[in-house]
Amino acid sequence: MRTSFIAGNWKMHKTVGEATALAKELVTALAKETCRIMIAPPFTALLEVSKIVKGTNIVLGAQNMAQEVQGAHTGEVSPVMLKDVGVTIVILGHSERRHVYGEKDELINKKVKLALSEGLEVILCVGEKIEERNAGNAEKVVEEQIKNGLKDISPQHMKNITIAYEPVWAIGTGVTATPEDADDMHAFIRKTITALYSPEIAETLIIQYGGSVKPNNAKELMAKANIDGALVGGAALTADQFVPIVQYDK
Ligand code: 13P
Repeated sequence: MRTSFIAGNWKMHKTVGEATALAKELVTALAKETCRIMIAPPFTALLEVSKIVKGTNIVLGAQNMAQEVQGAHTGEVSPVMLKDVGVTIVILGHSERRHVYGEKDELINKKVKLALSEGLEVILCVGEKIEERNAGNAEKVVEEQIKNGLKDISPQHMKNITIAYEPVWAIGTGVTATPEDADDMHAFIRKTITALYSPEIAETLIIQYGGSVKPNNAKELMAKANIDGALVGGAALTADQFVPIVQYDK
């Protein structure tokens, strides 16, 4: 049985004051929940939010990290610095990193390996663009992103990996993949992991869906056999929206 994992990616939103206010609301509202919950504020708010979620059932995530531990990397944040402020999970390969900031599979793989070796968990994001889906290439694109993103990752490390399937055309658009389409892709991801690793690893892997997850569609998405969680963007920015998503089964 896989434990549901609901994560909020706050992207480039919220000052420190706004972030701490939301974190406090979530800690109170979600105190009794038994699913896994993560919030990923912007870098500038990590330290203060960390103090609020410490010792609660909410874990602290980061939205990205550098591919090196330290050095002359102006503007970057290292995994050691993330751990230092209480981060335990890092989102890597988000479509905005891939398509707005030009991150390629090779760089993402380097970051995944470094995060794992530094003891961080990883949410590896994959997903096709609308042209790729319309051309019938969605599975091929996702398979490549998984194979390349997980290159040289040992079976032992796979317990620290979550995969988030986020079709690019569904992110921030209000257009959600149908639960059936999302479930089909999740099943395909599990098949890919079976071929790369083993049926056991594929069976225990948590696969989140991301892309316009809202309180009114979370339940039907989460009802699907292969959808184990959600990576939520816009609807993670207020307690009014995020709390009912976490409580999708209530
Ligand atoms: P939205 O929920 O705003 O579509 O964003 C999804 C996402 O990119 C989460 O990482």
